[in-house]
Amino acid sequence: MKNRVIITGPASEELGTNLSRKYGMQLMKPEIKIFSDGESKITMESVKNKNCTIIQSLCPPIDRHIIQLLMMIHKCKLDRASKITVIIPYMAYARQDKEFVKGEVITIALLAKLIKYFNIFKLITVDIHSKESLSYFGSNIINVSAIPLLARYVLDNIDTDNVIVVSPDYGGFSRAQKFAKILKKDVIYLNKNRNRQTGDIKIETKHGGDLKGKKIIIVDDMISTGNSIIKSCELLKKNGVANIFVVCTHALLLNEALIKIKQSGAYEIISTNSVPNVCSKVDLSDILYSSIEDK
Ligand code: R5P
Repeated sequence: MKNRVIITGPASEELGTNLSRKYGMQLMKPEIKIFSDGESKITMESVKNKNCTIIQSLCPPIDRHIIQLLMMIHKCKLDRASKITVIIPYMAYARQDKEFVKGEVITIALLAKLIKYFNIFKLITVDIHSKESLSYFGSNIINVSAIPLLARYVLDNIDTDNVIVVSPDYGGFSRAQKFAKILKKDVIYLNKNRNRQTGDIKIETKHGGDLKGKKIIIVDDMISTGNSIIKSCELLKKNGVANIFVVCTHALLLNEALIKIKQSGAYEIISTNSVPNVCSKVDLSDILYSSIEDK
């Protein structure tokens, strides 16, 4: 692996370090300086003729992490790296995948355009929010699913007797179905409505299933403010469930979301380390490495 370098952006040092340690890729941590006005400066040694993999999740501060990612790709291009693979474990802006309200910018399309400009070898991401988001990237994007890994974790660590899997909305139903299939459990979805002007959500009804006395596993792609999970827990409690676990790929956990979700009745939150925090119980490095290797 002499020529192989993993370049870790500040948002993905844990994953980058795991990849380097497990697979013998040379670890490169660029020096990052943030100026008083918020600009980033990146200094990194030459990667001339190196096979480079850059890893940077686009978690908050999102826009800063985007520009840093672009700076690292730019530097690899200027240095004439032999190959550039980019891993974005959490893809930001993937929820802005349509013009929901007239005049809205489809930001994921812009982000895709910026990355495509560099003509990289391959882009790897994990459980991107929607198929629409994926469609803005080229054919060299690989969207890896962490759902089998999350399901494996649950099977190994939680008693799944009496479990029903729940998606907080119809949009995430197929993801929850995939998870439920691995657990061999039933699955239902809740009806989530979002006010597109204010962003407020309501979850007041469910689709199917008697939930009384059941153990619930809510499955979602991400937790941002936690509102979707909190509203789900409130409805599930009203339906007499016994206890609630929450499983997601990307736990951003903004504005004390973890405390609020627990207060709303969830016992445990399980996520991957796409955004490292106390809930990151599932390491993505093995599936990411397989995708790097995959031709
Ligand atoms: C929405 O469709 C997503 O799948 C998530 O449910 C949502 O974006 C999570 O955001 P928050 O935690 O702010 O409700």
